[in-house]
Amino acid sequence: MSPERFSPYPPKLPYKFLTPQEADHFLTHGWLKVPNAIMPEYIDAWMADFWVRTGYDEHDKTTWKDEYLHLPHHRQVRHDQFCPEAWNKISDICGGEARIDPERERWIGDNFIANFGSEARSKSQFENSPKEKKGWHFDNDWYRHFLDSSGTALTIVHCFTDIPPHGGGTWLCEDGIARVIQHLYDHPKGLDPALTTSNVCDNIVKSCEDFTSVVAKRGDVFILHGLLPHVASFNHLHYARVITNPHVTLREPYNLNRPDDDYSLLEQVILRGLDRHSVPEYKPTRERMYWYPRNWTFKEAKVRDELEAMITAAKAKGLDENAVDSIWLKGEQARIDFDERNGLLLPVNEEAGLELRQHKL
Ligand SMILES: [Fe+2]
Repeated sequence: MSPERFSPYPPKLPYKFLTPQEADHFLTHGWLKVPNAIMPEYIDAWMADFWVRTGYDEHDKTTWKDEYLHLPHHRQVRHDQFCPEAWNKISDICGGEARIDPERERWIGDNFIANFGSEARSKSQFENSPKEKKGWHFDNDWYRHFLDSSGTALTIVHCFTDIPPHGGGTWLCEDGIARVIQHLYDHPKGLDPALTTSNVCDNIVKSCEDFTSVVAKRGDVFILHGLLPHVASFNHLHYARVITNPHVTLREPYNLNRPDDDYSLLEQVILRGLDRHSVPEYKPTRERMYWYPRNWTFKEAKVRDELEAMITAAKAKGLDENAVDSIWLKGEQARIDFDERNGLLLPVNEEAGLELRQHKL
């Protein structure tokens, strides 16, 4: 007998915050946009020293040395406090807040990803199709990835600036998600970050056709299924596009064989990708492993210079160091909390190594 094919499961309890259209959009496209969802006070407060931290002059583009920058965190707040409306929809997508890890990646920060473009880029041709781009991926730099892994259950794009078309909005590959899911199903040994994940998505995307790119207003939130392939795009408009890319982590691996059929939307995306009613036979064949996040290293290296610039800027206004709001100036407990929330107490995967330099655009 062939396994039963997928058809969407209505939620056991009605969604509290998602409309049926939003639930269907997430299920069929793998992402959802929540407009104007970030509390503006965080954008205002955190963007206030963005230029000081970069060392660039906002009004002199010749000082914009690097096209692409990943910055470290200086502040973190609970995700629900940062964008309550989006958080409610995130909870619905995950099958309720009780399934979400209460600490890991539950805090949202000002670890900005800035894409400035360049003068040369603004004169270059727009990309017709992102198919041939390199660097397509799904996020995970800290655990062995199995089909049922939920460490990066969602990848979130928080927009701190407007992102017009051709302005560096992330490319998404909608029909790639089913192929990623099939790849993970076919590899029950799991994929290890940087060792067996490279090029998986680049190869998958070559045979895909459904691409969309993030176009946004400041304050918008994009919620992406963790297995949706995506890649940074070029900013042809030579302005500062600023986002953050946090994740949502679940407490437990996905359950792809629920006797009561109470599948979350996250799980249903996977079942839909396989066109299966359930996947009782799936079992990881190696141990689950969790490691120190590989790409924290190059960001941490920037902390000292940023702090120095922030303190200098405060002093120039007649203030002292106490006026600077940063985790790194708040003492030992703040540092311990930060380490716990961001996986920094986990062992390093020596074989994969750490990312000592920021990857290129
Ligand atoms: Fe990513």
